[in-house]
Amino acid sequence: MQDKILNLLRKEEGYLSGEEISQHLGVSRAAVWKHIEELRKEGYGIEAMPHMGYRLVVLPDRLFKEEISWKLNTKIIGKELLCFETLDSTMDMCYELGIKNRPEGTIVCAETQKKGRGRMGRSWSSPRQKGIYFSVLLRPQISAVEAPKLTILAAVAVAAAIRKFTGLTSSIKWPNDILIDDRKVCGILTEMQAEQDLVKFVVIGIGINVNTNKNDLPPKATSIKEEKGIEVSRTELFKETLREIERYYILFQNKGFSPIAREWKAQASILGHRVKILSQNRSIEGEAIDLDSDGSLLVRRDSGFIEKVLSGDVIKIR
Ligand code: BTN
Repeated sequence: MQDKILNLLRKEEGYLSGEEISQHLGVSRAAVWKHIEELRKEGYGIEAMPHMGYRLVVLPDRLFKEEISWKLNTKIIGKELLCFETLDSTMDMCYELGIKNRPEGTIVCAETQKKGRGRMGRSWSSPRQKGIYFSVLLRPQISAVEAPKLTILAAVAVAAAIRKFTGLTSSIKWPNDILIDDRKVCGILTEMQAEQDLVKFVVIGIGINVNTNKNDLPPKATSIKEEKGIEVSRTELFKETLREIERYYILFQNKGFSPIAREWKAQASILGHRVKILSQNRSIEGEAIDLDSDGSLLVRRDSGFIEKVLSGDVIKIR
């Protein structure tokens, strides 16, 4: 009922009387008033004017399903949208939905995570109502070794959304960190289920530091608020991010990985630089020369040997 009232108020530029709302929805005026009170508690600014009615004046910047779906205009990404106040990790919930055959494009987001996960066994700090923490379920018809392409796709999409929505230019550190002025603003984690080397589904988890204050950020990290000096609407940035993921995913399906790789290369912070890459059990040093066709990084060792690196943490040396 509250969604219905909100939708009526959204469509109306001026005031909508309690009588009109109650007739439209077939409930009493007292019931309308009660629902409006509930909406106010959630942070909606609803003005009430005697003899005129109600008017929606302020939307809360909360990651509510109704707010995100409103004029999202996507065909796949976010058609199914699950929003939670608290989760252990959006990755686990989304993975479960993958197993349960939920459709491609399903999104799971949370206002905070108790056990937010980062890459290589690290944790991801998720201060409540400050960032955007979500996972998206994809069912691409690719082999498991091609999965890194989707991480790259997600990085390009998030960077585009940040640029479009905030005007901030970011760079991408292989494979999946988005940096502003060399400080991390977004991290991406990809997990998948595969069978006989074919991907059954992929879960891409994305954490963006949006209105996060400096004190709540890990060292060497930043947030959109820190960079712009003002808070921005998480809801709008989230919607833009979902639209960009869809745009690049459709591009990937129609034209393959090369246009995405090209965009990634144009924003890559490490290509042409000497790097040290730390992976689980070894460290490689050399020049980062290119992105390979499967999304892995090509590093030229001092011996001249070109090594293909599938995962790891990159440190730019010079
Ligand atoms: C990294 O840079 O190490 C990857 C961080 C990924 C964080 C996101 S937040 C939403 C999703 N849920 C998680 O537990 N992790 C990812």
